[in-house]
Amino acid sequence: MDRVKNKVVIITGAASGLGEADARMLAAEGARVVMTDINVDAGQTIANEIGATFYQQDVALEESWHDLMGKVEEHYGQLDALVNNAGVGIIADIETTTTEVWRKTLGIHLDGTFWGCQSAIALMKKSGGGSIINMSSTAALVGIPSFLAYSAAKGGIRSMTKSIAIHCKQQNLNVRCNSVHPGSINTPMVHNALKKLVGIDMASEEDPEMMRQKLGVGEPNDVAHMIVYLVSDESKHINGAEMVIDNGDTVI
Ligand SMILES: NC(=O)c1ccc[n+]([C@@H]2O[C@H](COP(=O)([O-])OP(=O)(O)OC[C@H]3O[C@@H](n4cnc5c(N)ncnc54)[C@H](O)[C@@H]3O)[C@@H](O)[C@H]2O)c1
Repeated sequence: MDRVKNKVVIITGAASGLGEADARMLAAEGARVVMTDINVDAGQTIANEIGATFYQQDVALEESWHDLMGKVEEHYGQLDALVNNAGVGIIADIETTTTEVWRKTLGIHLDGTFWGCQSAIALMKKSGGGSIINMSSTAALVGIPSFLAYSAAKGGIRSMTKSIAIHCKQQNLNVRCNSVHPGSINTPMVHNALKKLVGIDMASEEDPEMMRQKLGVGEPNDVAHMIVYLVSDESKHINGAEMVIDNGDTVI
């Protein structure tokens, strides 16, 4: 309990899956959680349940970041951590990826993460520093054929993170920046991919937990534990790192 007590933490894409798990665990550990998402109903419902603040935000719009940081500064006067988590996983390989899919994927993941980091650093500088956590993927490490634009975006997030981490260190900003690289984790995004790519429908499985274990798919809290650690001061010497959460899948 209280590992991140009173820290003000923004989580994007917090109305579902990993973002929701992060929000719940951070709130349970004492953080003042600010959730954002394009899905207002689900986001507001979860926020009410855990005592968080919810704001509607499309991370792919630059002005949404200025609005968000303005509200956070006005309401809390500080920002201790940002989790750039919002994302989409559109299935398409190099031969089938349209320009529209390419731009949408890079807009949400790469542009959103860039604006998020830039605007968070501006506010963190005023309030003494902070921790930025960028949600990448093992797709950044190995490249997944059926997720071309997604792999490119996650690879970009990985190297952007390192560039930011070193800049902040050189400038003595007291801002850390790390990327997180989960393999397959049990969320709606992965359910959709399993259905489309291998014909497994987790929703109609008789024993979804058994199927999860059989497929070697992780649980959202496996990632949330890492997020709490990176937000907390326990990770004060971790900077520019890539935290892989895949039970060794990319090692062998
Ligand atoms: N689940 C996995 O196995 C896995 C693995 C590696 C990385 N990731 C990454 O983790 C993050 C969360 O994925 P998830 O599995 O929880 O997916 P999810 O689909 O359950 O949740 C994604 C959330 O992002 C929101 N979102 C989408 N576009 C948005 C936008 N433009 N602005 C704001 N919010 C937006 C959605 O409304 C949704 O609530 C993503 O960045 C994803 O790429 C997931």
